[in-house]
Amino acid sequence: MKIAVLPGDGIGVDVTAQAVKVLRAALGSTPCEFSHGLIGGAAFDATGDSLPPATIALVKGADAVLLGATGTPEDEHRLPSEAVGRSTLRLRQELGLFANFRPAYLYPELIGASTLKPEVVTGLDLIILRELNGDVYYGEPRGIATDSTGQRFGFNTMRYSETEVERIGRAAFEAARRRRKKVCSVDKANVLETSALWREVMTRLGLEYPDVALSHMYVDAAAMELMRNPTQFDVVVTGNIFGDILSDAAAMLTGSIGMLPSASLGAGRKGLYEPVHGSAPNIAGKNLANPVAAILSGAMMLRHSFSMEDAAAQIEGAVGRVLKDGYRTADIYEPGTRKVGTREMGERVAEEIQQTV
Ligand code: IPM
Ligand code: MG
Repeated sequence: MKIAVLPGDGIGVDVTAQAVKVLRAALGSTPCEFSHGLIGGAAFDATGDSLPPATIALVKGADAVLLGATGTPEDEHRLPSEAVGRSTLRLRQELGLFANFRPAYLYPELIGASTLKPEVVTGLDLIILRELNGDVYYGEPRGIATDSTGQRFGFNTMRYSETEVERIGRAAFEAARRRRKKVCSVDKANVLETSALWREVMTRLGLEYPDVALSHMYVDAAAMELMRNPTQFDVVVTGNIFGDILSDAAAMLTGSIGMLPSASLGAGRKGLYEPVHGSAPNIAGKNLANPVAAILSGAMMLRHSFSMEDAAAQIEGAVGRVLKDGYRTADIYEPGTRKVGTREMGERVAEEIQQTV
């Protein structure tokens, strides 16, 4: 087992260290090689490239990749094409990862940390399946140009081919078969041709999965329904930009974006596993970040890339018990619980695993 670890920027460094600690505990004596590489601002400062060739070689030779986060405050003053945060996008593309699973599961202990009422979020267990290789994120042409009056304008292209819709659609139906057998496809078919085609392909594909209930929802309505009645959802499948937005919203239902893991998969078993949260430079290096999203991303890695279901479940169970014991990082802290830092949270989870193996 070869795992490439790319901590990246900001709290990415803090949380991946804990995820590796927990993975080592869960793997026990299983031989496994962790190799670290540079990405994002850290790579840019060292090499002038936010995704240097050495990192590409490292991830191509690995069975799975654990990523922290990319992006620095300087990105705000850079063009999107030059932002170091884009290295994550390049990495996803290099590895051909098109299916991004972002599960939002509410640990019962964290009901009070959600911004929604307990009766609305109780039982929340959904997956946002975000297409990750197409859409307005990668569509050409794109750019900033000047029109005949001398005024500048920005433009991007929203684009999906039938093949791209079909492969993410299949991933959604297959995932739903292993869950509650419901797929909600989210688009903006009342306005966008891209979405009209998306909906047509999803509907056609749905006929091949008669055991799965398929519904369609416009993205604005889906945003509202996620707040109004989130437990109606099982698998939500959507394009790159809608998925980016809805997954942040879904994250908050669980109490904190610091709880949400993700897995990005392609055609094979290799996957990229990363917390949904960003680099949060304001709290970086202060032992404040919640490492749970990164730790749970490690569990997803064991499950999807290495078929180690038991070890994955062990990590998830350990996180649950640590929460039950009252340990909380600042983002999910409530009076009456025990506030701990990034390192202590990682250590508690690792110890919890060691006690059970
Ligand atoms: C995410 C992030 C990234 C994205 C950024 C950092 C480019 O927001 O993974 O959701 O938009 O995909
Ligand atoms: Mg995002």
